[in-house]
Amino acid sequence: MECPNCSNVLSFLICSFLPFLLIEVASADPTNYEEYWKQREVISRAHNLAAYDPDPEVATDHFNRAVHQALPNSSTRRALGEWRGHAWASKCTATNPIDRCWRCRKNWTRERKRLVKCVKGFGHRTTGGAAGRYYVVTDPSDNNLVEPKPGTLRHAVVQDEPLWIVFARSMVITLREELIINSHKTIDGRGASVHIAYGAQITIQNVHNIIIHNVKIHNITNSWGGMIRDSLSHFGLRTASDGDGISILSSSNIWIDHVSMWNCKDGLIDVIQGSTAITISNSHFTRHDHVMLFGASNSYEDDKIMQITVAFNHFGKGLVQRMPRCRFGFFHVVNNDYTHWEMYAIGGNMNPTIISQGNRYIAPPNIFAKEVTKREYTLESEWQNWVWKSEGDLMNNGAFFIQSGKRNKMRHDRKNFIKAKPGTYVRRLTRFAGALNCKRNQKC
Ligand SMILES: *[C@@H]1O[C@H](CO)[C@@H](O)[C@H](O)[C@H]1NC(C)=O
Ligand SMILES: *[C@@H]1O[C@H](CO)[C@@H](O)[C@H](O)[C@H]1NC(C)=O
Ligand SMILES: *[C@@H]1O[C@H](CO)[C@@H](O)[C@H](O)[C@H]1NC(C)=O
Repeated sequence: MECPNCSNVLSFLICSFLPFLLIEVASADPTNYEEYWKQREVISRAHNLAAYDPDPEVATDHFNRAVHQALPNSSTRRALGEWRGHAWASKCTATNPIDRCWRCRKNWTRERKRLVKCVKGFGHRTTGGAAGRYYVVTDPSDNNLVEPKPGTLRHAVVQDEPLWIVFARSMVITLREELIINSHKTIDGRGASVHIAYGAQITIQNVHNIIIHNVKIHNITNSWGGMIRDSLSHFGLRTASDGDGISILSSSNIWIDHVSMWNCKDGLIDVIQGSTAITISNSHFTRHDHVMLFGASNSYEDDKIMQITVAFNHFGKGLVQRMPRCRFGFFHVVNNDYTHWEMYAIGGNMNPTIISQGNRYIAPPNIFAKEVTKREYTLESEWQNWVWKSEGDLMNNGAFFIQSGKRNKMRHDRKNFIKAKPGTYVRRLTRFAGALNCKRNQKC
């Protein structure tokens, strides 16, 4: 969802769907939807502020160090032995620090919760449902939004306790309305082929500590809204949803890893309303126009606390723009592979800080779309002060990144900082982006 001023959206929705809303309200619980979510936002804001990292440059350095440690220089013999040839099956080919932490262990099914030791970047404190028991989803249906059936994904995510959610088998889950996830949950699709598709979106709103791992999210559509449960103690009327793949609103400590996403109605991933401490990694994005929106409103200054790491992703075929499109916050875009875009890759306005390091940018053939960056609705006299830096990026096919911001404003090139692994390594680092086909008792 993108809007110059988000309060207008509600009035727009009310005007457009007034007759529909009246019918719904008349038959609904009188709980005040807006009031309820406002109260929850007050609480989530405190969590978000606590998750905010006052020294984000140090976080980028930690991240880059971990990449160096996981991927030795190609000149070393060990590295050559691992990357060359086709002996993938026998050797562990996990190439980045997140994957290396778990994918080379045959017994990953017996230690699923080990994942929480693997997350890097701004979402590094995310533990999801690690403190809780396992919940096995056995039923792909989604027929009751208020009293969800035990065994369904919706029943799992509305629980108040921490849960590590896994899937009994491969399945396609078509959500009838938004899936509203409660705090402390891991959705772990490893070992099955789980599609969340052809229905409504995933919503992460006013919560914290969520992991979404190894699922395919695609062909998500907008939905009309209605009565939906969001926790054990509450359900209420929701207005229409946009049809993003995943919407993150006023939430913190979120990790999205090894997800494949394509063809949703609105954005693939939207992060708004002061959400922070987020890592989006190892994912594969294709066939979509508006890929990622970080901050939706020019007037929402609370987005200044937004801190997001976008790493080891493959931005693939059929993508048009916003990979990501940023406002206000601090964004570390590192070691991603951009193999196609139609308009631009990285953009934004409202003085976001964008640190682009060690990515590979392959520009499209269109000579008018070679620029990686796009500053929206701002005069150069103003954007020349925004800190947008490109370091170690590999520019192919005429791609170019227009940097801005004064050198001395950028603290992230402090002397003791390590340089990011350069863009020449990106193909290795992202080779396994997207949902994996992990088998029991085998390295994944
Ligand atoms: C890789 O090379 C860089 C400089 O070329 C060096 O600083 C770094 O320590 C090396 N890393 C490893 C793991 O050998
Ligand atoms: C899994 O295997 C590793 C060795 O690769 C071992 O150290 C670890 O204890 C095993 N974990 C479990 C839960 O069996
Ligand atoms: C899902 O999206 C793809 C395009 O990415 C399209 O070809 C396909 O028809 C869609 N499937 C359905 C069932 O809508």
